[in-house]
Amino acid sequence: MNNQKLKIALQKSGRLSEDSVNLLNKCGVKFENGRGRLKSVARNFPLEIFFLRDDDIPQYIEDDVADIGIVGENILAEENRQIESLEPLGFSRCRLALAVPKSFSYESIKDLEGKKIATSYPKILGDFLARNSVNAEIHRISGSVEIAPSIGLADAVCDLVSSGSTLFTNGLREVETVLQSEAVLVSRKNLDAPQRAILAKLLFRIKAVNAAKQNKYILLNAPDARLKEIIELLPGIKSPTVMPLAEKGWSSIHSVIAENDFWEVVENLKNKGAEGILVLSIDQMIS
Ligand code: PRP
Ligand code: ZN
Repeated sequence: MNNQKLKIALQKSGRLSEDSVNLLNKCGVKFENGRGRLKSVARNFPLEIFFLRDDDIPQYIEDDVADIGIVGENILAEENRQIESLEPLGFSRCRLALAVPKSFSYESIKDLEGKKIATSYPKILGDFLARNSVNAEIHRISGSVEIAPSIGLADAVCDLVSSGSTLFTNGLREVETVLQSEAVLVSRKNLDAPQRAILAKLLFRIKAVNAAKQNKYILLNAPDARLKEIIELLPGIKSPTVMPLAEKGWSSIHSVIAENDFWEVVENLKNKGAEGILVLSIDQMIS
């Protein structure tokens, strides 16, 4: 039981792969992930890593080949699999979108009535069209959806878009957002107790890494006369640390601020007389 490992499935190459590997590394899990590698064993954590096509990961988990995995929400929404979604991971944000060739004069979704749409997401697209009362022919293809219009296979496509460069290079224009998606950690439903213990350990680290990403560490010098107003701008985790500087009448303040509004906080701090402001990234944050 002591050498039991949890098996995690990651995308072998594509939108999710690099961030998935980075996340595990930030969780202190060390492993080899050279190109073309199918499997790896972590050196310092009870984890075996499988590198697979992202679209196949839910099936592998359902079939007990892998215990947990990192996939896009888009795949979960398309396939009604018996697996559990545990934690949104905040990366590989993308959208499932409808796109048409540049020459298609598109004004509203009604323009897709009676048209042929190529997609790898027939269920999500079917539901979306039904909600919009549009009848179109859905043509399911498993890859390279973006070339379907240029080879005469379809009038439009419904595919994942992240940077938009795939659509652009294929002369397609995005016209409707069907679904927003990001990476999530998923697991098999019937993990045994030792597997659940390993998962809990990993999840604890993932949450610490993700909390850290949403926050910054800030240090600054403040004139004592304005300490109170400056502290009010810095809630911190509990409350900011205040230490006297060698120079009389000044203090050093340390705190944590949300990544979302740190520019605004920094401007306000400057206006209140703060000096020598340093803002640092946090690797892990455990509250
Ligand atoms: C998706 C999609 C496009 C690409 C879009 O592929 O099918 O090919 O990403 O990204 P872009 O807007 O940045 O160009 P995915 O990574 O899921 O690979 P797969 O199709 O091989 O599964
Ligand atoms: Zn994919």
